[in-house]
Amino acid sequence: MTQTDTRTEFIARLPKAELHLHIEGSLEPELMFELAQRNGVNIPFASVEEVRAAYDFSNLQDFLDIYYQGMGVLLKEEDFFDLTMAYLERANMDNVRHVEIFFDPQGHTERGVSFDTAIGGILRALDAGEERFGITYRLIMCFLRHLSEEAAFETLAEAEKWLDRIEGVGLDSSEVGHPPSKFARVYAAAREKGLKLVAHAGEEGPPEYVWEALDLLKIDRIDHGNRALEDGALVERIAADGQTLTVCPLSNLKLCVIDRIEHSPVKRMLELGIRATVNSDDPAYFGGYVNANFNAIASALDLSVAELTQLAANSFSGSFLSDADKAAHIAKVSAFARDYQ
Ligand code: ADE
Ligand code: ZN
Repeated sequence: MTQTDTRTEFIARLPKAELHLHIEGSLEPELMFELAQRNGVNIPFASVEEVRAAYDFSNLQDFLDIYYQGMGVLLKEEDFFDLTMAYLERANMDNVRHVEIFFDPQGHTERGVSFDTAIGGILRALDAGEERFGITYRLIMCFLRHLSEEAAFETLAEAEKWLDRIEGVGLDSSEVGHPPSKFARVYAAAREKGLKLVAHAGEEGPPEYVWEALDLLKIDRIDHGNRALEDGALVERIAADGQTLTVCPLSNLKLCVIDRIEHSPVKRMLELGIRATVNSDDPAYFGGYVNANFNAIASALDLSVAELTQLAANSFSGSFLSDADKAAHIAKVSAFARDYQ
């Protein structure tokens, strides 16, 4: 067996959590076609191949334009159920044992699909997936940062009756020009309600946005955070606080945040003492689920078994599971790595 084969098998069997996954970004072209047909929605593509060919992005906005168009086939509760169940089946194949997934309610309410329809289908699938695969979950509701503060407050109000099922809030969509400070009051309100707080920061935006996310939004976890590495004081702060970064290597490559996979910051982050994790972001659009992300950087960055094990342990320690559950998962990661021949 080659070193790559051995590493691939190790990654495949390593227990892991996924902490950065937009459920709408797991909509595979095959399901997009099926739902378009089922719901009588027109899509501007003639075949699955044509859809895949359109997934050629030069930046985040290029992708977002297609991503919001793609979710237009999601109309009914069962569509959200099918979407989420398809992701969980795929996650189970990658030995993902816990997921913390995002959904974009405003991507649906803006086109007349109710908050309840979207969240109802997603939660029903998450419950069924826990039963079927033993995959535990947390659900995070994201605000679209290109929309207004007022729209975010309206979404928070719509979430009110679901708050016992929503773990936290996040911030996604077009980053540059929409700094975290725009949502400081919304985040304060979410914090008051006992919600956990995460935000995309430093994907395309400058290190200042990461500072704002930490100091103004008071987030519990940073999504992406790539550009934090440009600022030494920020790196020290992130490491000292034990902040988790949810890095998405194949997403970074597809959205030209990095020009080659060899430039993924994951290994450097570990060396700097940052709790980095590996995630798939929008796997249907970026060419791979969590193990594909691990495999891509394992060979490109020549990650050791110890580094891969650290990344899997980080995915649990950086999760919103209880301390006891984190410890139980991390013990399994360690036992697996120790016994692995
Ligand atoms: N929405 C879905 N994926 C995203 C990403 N990588 N960055 C910002 N917003 C997103
Ligand atoms: Zn994301």
